[in-house]
Amino acid sequence: MIPEISRVEELISGEQLNQRISELGAEISTRYAGKDLTMVGILKGSVPFLSDLMRAITVPVQIDFLELSSYNGGMQSSGAVRLVKDLTHPIADKHVLIVEDIVDTGLTLSHLYELFATRRPASLAIATLLDKPSGRHEGLELKVDYAGFTIPGHFVVGYGLDLGGYFRNLPYVGVYHPPEEE
Ligand code: IMP
Ligand code: MG
Repeated sequence: MIPEISRVEELISGEQLNQRISELGAEISTRYAGKDLTMVGILKGSVPFLSDLMRAITVPVQIDFLELSSYNGGMQSSGAVRLVKDLTHPIADKHVLIVEDIVDTGLTLSHLYELFATRRPASLAIATLLDKPSGRHEGLELKVDYAGFTIPGHFVVGYGLDLGGYFRNLPYVGVYHPPEEE
């Protein structure tokens, strides 16, 4: 079923996204000046964020993608993370910035971080558009280097974030209110 747009309540406007992403781009450009930077986007949710963030970065940068699966199309994390599509290029000796749409339990990124660490990059950092610290898996330590916005524990959609594959194309981030709420 195609979910209804009337159930989405705007939380972060397109303008706020642009503003914050410019700031992040400036910070990242300073940190990686003179370094061989690769941004790794996690498909598919990071696509709009990575696309805007890379254009806010003024130092040379390469991009690559991988796909993981941790959600089963619904609103609850399954906890298990599977590598569906690996990177095209090796990351040894590269300065790697992982780009993600949202950190909730943190399980996805901690798995990926451990996997990438075995590939001996020059450095490894994490940039996420959204951070939901209230959802963090108990006892899990994850260092998020760049976070666009810290949000409460709502289920959000838009600007890459989906519900069953839909809503990724919204130019803003919104809270999805499921029908049961009424
Ligand atoms: P984590 O492993 O629990 O940190 O979940 C990370 C992944 O779950 C993200 O890459 C998203 O794909 C998905 N996710 C977590 N929270 C939301 C949400 O509020 N809306 C849409 N997807 C979410
Ligand atoms: Mg994702």
